[in-house]
Amino acid sequence: MAEIAVIGAGYVGLTTGACLAHLGHEVTVADIEIQRVEALQRGEIPFVEPKLSEIVNAGIKSNKLKFVVGAKNACKKAEFHFLCLPTPPNGDGSTDLSYFQAGVEEISDILPPNSILINKSTVPVGTAAEIDNQIERTDLAVVSNPEFLAEGNAVNDFLHPSRIVIGAVIPEAATRVAELYSQINAPVLATSWESAELIKLTANAFLAMKLTFVNEIATLCEKTGADIQDVMMGIGYDPRIGASYLNPGPGWGGSCFPKDSSSLAHVARKVGFDFSLLEHTIELNKQHVERTAVKIQATLPKANSIRKIAAWGLTFKAGTDDLRSSPAIAVLRHLINDQNTIYAYDPTITESIKQIPEVLIETDPYVCAENADVIVILTEWENFKNLDMSRVMKVMKSPNLVDTRNLFKRKEMEKLGFIYYGMGV
Ligand SMILES: NC(=O)c1ccc[n+]([C@@H]2O[C@H](COP(=O)([O-])OP(=O)(O)OC[C@H]3O[C@@H](n4cnc5c(N)ncnc54)[C@H](O)[C@@H]3O)[C@@H](O)[C@H]2O)c1
Repeated sequence: MAEIAVIGAGYVGLTTGACLAHLGHEVTVADIEIQRVEALQRGEIPFVEPKLSEIVNAGIKSNKLKFVVGAKNACKKAEFHFLCLPTPPNGDGSTDLSYFQAGVEEISDILPPNSILINKSTVPVGTAAEIDNQIERTDLAVVSNPEFLAEGNAVNDFLHPSRIVIGAVIPEAATRVAELYSQINAPVLATSWESAELIKLTANAFLAMKLTFVNEIATLCEKTGADIQDVMMGIGYDPRIGASYLNPGPGWGGSCFPKDSSSLAHVARKVGFDFSLLEHTIELNKQHVERTAVKIQATLPKANSIRKIAAWGLTFKAGTDDLRSSPAIAVLRHLINDQNTIYAYDPTITESIKQIPEVLIETDPYVCAENADVIVILTEWENFKNLDMSRVMKVMKSPNLVDTRNLFKRKEMEKLGFIYYGMGV
């Protein structure tokens, strides 16, 4: 079993570290945030992620998983160093590599000879080559090993991935990294650095494009009387299309799709390629978010009065507390004006959100619905389905329900007395 350092204890780093310890490796996870490290040492998980607490605590108990402040303290003795650092977007869609480069800079001199620097962060094509130049060490190998986990299912995705991509120049380095995953049953794809980096960006841009296509067809369904659920089931049976990622929504978002699509578009611009399909996908998603907001606004009374919007769901998807680039927030931003008061309930959010301080947070969905002119479902939390919707309707001012995730059935909601608006249904 190998000695491994993981740099960055966020969604990817913590999952990577805990899962590698679960596979039997000796893992030290480092972060720069002292409070985060101290909480992790006590076995407290800093964000919502199913199953993560169990494997982190099992790792701590078996002494296979440790947490330290500062990358140097993790890397000194390790043979493998996983970089799981933030790569947020710049204003022009390019990737801010400053955290990433600072992390590499911090450890480049102390990495033991013959160890391997493995990048799991999502980065523009060419980054592995740049790191290789930056570290100026001929006794080390750089490997690109992009991570495909999805928040809300991160542990499962890590331990049961659809594929493991390993981009390397030195084949022996790729083999050594592949061995770390030898207990995982998944195809291993050995590629160049550039291909590995492009695979990751392409996967997310493709999924974003698929979702935009579904959202566009949902709008077409509304205009033609077709039902998106039937249409998507009808195409999903075709194995060339596949049945996943066919649900419409308020617009796609989250910590990966927007930044990775923009990053890929930027990579294309940089090499002089007009990737208008992707550029247009990004633009269409913005339009779809606006269209969703217009749909909500249209349910509100026209008279010059204060209206109440009750929003259920703020996170970018169910199963996480991650608000980064949440489409729920993007939709609500369009609805902030002098006449609208907006209250929101989300099972993972208890305090006001700095991106939208105008939105008042409720911790009870029924209280949130009181005197509302409309309820808007923005995140597909399954437990919304267990709420007593007849009770909800009784406390509202007007029975409008905008279900941007198609969580409920129109007929059932209409039977209760709601005026139901879904997406493409
Ligand atoms: N979140 C996802 O679903 C997901 C999935 C696949 C890939 N990715 C990619 O993985 C990377 C990490 O994403 P994330 O969501 O885990 O980010 P995150 O923001 O949740 O975590 C990053 C962590 O790195 C720490 N950090 C920053 N600088 C550091 C340093 N110098 N030394 C030690 N720790 C440092 C931060 O304190 C933070 O805890 C990004 O490139 C992202 O695009 C994310």
